[in-house]
Amino acid sequence: MASLTVNGASRNFDGDATMPLLWYLRDELQMTGTKFGCGMALCGACTVHLDGNPVRSCSTPMSAAVGKRVTTIEGLDANGQHPLQVAWREQGVPQCGYCQSGQIMQAAALLKDGRRPTDAEIESAMAGNICRCGTYTRIKAAIKQAATMKGA
Ligand code: FES
Ligand code: FES
Repeated sequence: MASLTVNGASRNFDGDATMPLLWYLRDELQMTGTKFGCGMALCGACTVHLDGNPVRSCSTPMSAAVGKRVTTIEGLDANGQHPLQVAWREQGVPQCGYCQSGQIMQAAALLKDGRRPTDAEIESAMAGNICRCGTYTRIKAAIKQAATMKGA
């Protein structure tokens, strides 16, 4: 029996080690905040953290997740008050919303340890997260706002 931690809770896993982490999160744990987009590590909709680093959960097998700490959008802040979530609301970032949990998780990794990224660093870090609604300008503004807030 393998184990991993998901949003701070210890979980046991004895299924197919080749199954994508995204399937485990959505189908087994019913954590549906993480979205399925392309399924080929090309869009970023499925981004979660593995030991604090952003990964595409559609292309991360369970074998790579066992023994590690997984954080999803549900675990970023219990009350939805992470500085990025606050800034996202204040900037009115989401349109259809489908890509947004992946965007926020990618941005959260960029801001960890109180970093204040430059415009170029934001553009580089977020380049792999696609938004078909074109919310890129607001995403960038929200990241810059959150970087100035306590707890980012
Ligand atoms: S669904 Fe994983 S990168 Fe697109
Ligand atoms: S808000 Fe619609 S895809 Fe990004």
